[in-house]
Amino acid sequence: MTDLLTVKNIIAGYGNGPAILDGATMTVEPGKVHCIIGPNGAGKSTLLKAICGMLAIREGEVIYKGETINGLRPDQIMRKGIAFVPQERALFPKMTVRENLRMGGFILEDKTELERRVDEVMERFPILKERRAQLAGTMSGGQQQTLAMARTLIVKPEIVMLDEPSLGLAPKIVKEMFDIMNVMAQEGITVLLVEQNAQMGLKQADWGVVLDLGRTLFEGPAKEVLADPRIQELYLGSNKAA
Ligand SMILES: Nc1ncnc2c1ncn2[C@@H]1O[C@H](COP(=O)(O)OP(=O)(O)O)[C@@H](O)[C@H]1O
Ligand SMILES: [Mg+2]
Repeated sequence: MTDLLTVKNIIAGYGNGPAILDGATMTVEPGKVHCIIGPNGAGKSTLLKAICGMLAIREGEVIYKGETINGLRPDQIMRKGIAFVPQERALFPKMTVRENLRMGGFILEDKTELERRVDEVMERFPILKERRAQLAGTMSGGQQQTLAMARTLIVKPEIVMLDEPSLGLAPKIVKEMFDIMNVMAQEGITVLLVEQNAQMGLKQADWGVVLDLGRTLFEGPAKEVLADPRIQELYLGSNKAA
């Protein structure tokens, strides 16, 4: 199968600071769930930011559908079909749920179409419809994460990147977030998931990527990553500090 997205040996850092990504590589296949694991500070969030253009790539390449996209602005990359839900969710806390959904489609020129899509997404997520007039910042963590994930659907993305969607949520709510992710995948959206709980993330994924010190140490079928004794010892240990 040809890759939808290829990250080739990228080197990137913040401002003039040191290289945080120092040879990060990954292959992304259409319609699959990819989970990036690695210790705190490994560069997982930085990798997602580099892919979506929020961070300049100094060396290496990000190739999407055969085209080099590094160097493009975040909005240009979004227009090509790559959506990103950052760890901090980036909602507008003082705006309503409906307004937040509308902001998700700021790149759409046709405002009638935008309203139609906002309605469509609210139909899919009854909790958002119910709370459409509520300020996003006053909702529970799970509801905010639902909104952040649902908001990406407004632009009908091809790839959705999720940075730690489970962070700070109770186990039952975490399951709901993974259910949303799995529905996205069933609908053909390609998912890039960063998950601190590596076991849990890999169990949801087709493909696993192990990142440490900004470098890809291994990538392969998620089952293989889970079964690898060395990866288990280094990255999947239950006593590993978060
Ligand atoms: N905005 C920033 N400015 C400077 N350094 C940063 C910034 N964000 C993250 N870093 C540094 O980049 C490294 C990797 O961080 P990050 O990508 O957030 O790791 P992870 O998501 O794997 O926990 C860390 O050393 C962190 O201190
Ligand atoms: Mg992170």
